Amino acid sequence: MSYQLRPGMHVLEIDTPALLLDLDAFERNVNRMAQFFAGRPTSLRPHAKTHKCPTIALRQLEAGAIGITCAKLGEAEVLAQAGVPDILIANQVVGPIKIDRLTDLARECNVMVAMDHPANVDALSRACQAKGVSMRALVEVDIGMKRCGVRPGGAALPLARQIADAPGLQFAGLMGYEGHLVMIPDPDERASRVRGAVALLQETKDLLERNGLAVPIVSGGGTGTFDMSGTHPTMTEIQAGSYVFMDATYCRIRPEFEPALSVLSTVISRPARDRVVTDTGKKAMSEEFGLPRPIGIEGLSTQALSEEHGRLTATADAASLQPGDKVRFLPSHCCTTVNLHDRLHVIQRDALVDIWPIAARGRAQ
Ligand SMILES: Cc1ncc(COP(=O)(O)O)c(C=O)c1O
Repeated sequence: MSYQLRPGMHVLEIDTPALLLDLDAFERNVNRMAQFFAGRPTSLRPHAKTHKCPTIALRQLEAGAIGITCAKLGEAEVLAQAGVPDILIANQVVGPIKIDRLTDLARECNVMVAMDHPANVDALSRACQAKGVSMRALVEVDIGMKRCGVRPGGAALPLARQIADAPGLQFAGLMGYEGHLVMIPDPDERASRVRGAVALLQETKDLLERNGLAVPIVSGGGTGTFDMSGTHPTMTEIQAGSYVFMDATYCRIRPEFEPALSVLSTVISRPARDRVVTDTGKKAMSEEFGLPRPIGIEGLSTQALSEEHGRLTATADAASLQPGDKVRFLPSHCCTTVNLHDRLHVIQRDALVDIWPIAARGRAQ
């Protein structure tokens, strides 16, 4: 028997582990976010680290996004090759090997990069001149997450000036990501803390403008804060990513978006009446935000994942599960789960309708 994925096959016929995408829920998520930004002064530049999938990036652009955000140069290369015309690498691209690739990328698409160190500005400027290309750069400001970025205020000025004066680079503005705030459960507290964080970007912008530097772009924001930073007059673009898929963690924060992603598994063993073992472990589902949750079957709960096994406890209805039966999981973190798979099985009303390659999966360099 030769197994083949074919359009129209039932979801339960798909071999496992398999990453499933509910097309209708996904499209509603894309449209809901696009509608929020339609007609507003702030634009959407969705983060592709969530999906790493050119088909999805192109759909986000079709729905009105002004460009795409990437975390890694490797992701940006894949998306540029697929025809994404405008890409922000919201990260530092450091070292001669990557700088060489970044200057090549500038020939493929309109690229913009985050920077927070003068040596990196020098190196990129020299490489741009040598290749005869130019690109936009944002100064990354640490607005409380304590990851990359210069301190807000005065520290941004010399770096912004250096970029503005650097041949091959154009100073395009600021980036500040409020990642430490996106999961605050109480929306009022989240909104108030976001106002405080974005105020740091505004102060920095004011300082640069007083010193003669135009700041056309201020970029940041995520799924947990898109409507808070996205309605703040300081911000010009929002980098939300997870809203396309959602997961058990973000569903608690953002009930207006629907869980569209799941992992299909097969029961491979029933060693005891209350124990169900599936073929999906840590190599099919991430668990840094908690264990993935079985969905659609009452009385099942995940106990632990090992590399290639999911161990579940069964009560009531689930006690009848047999080897060969299928169980679906809602991931606790969509972005790191997607990176474990080669393709999305796109499902509509329980039938396979398409396969979308996760072409930038694993492109961490
Ligand atoms: C730089 C940056 N921008 C935006 C986001 C927002 O992503 P999400 O919508 O998944 O919270 C992230 C998340 O890691 C990020 O690192």
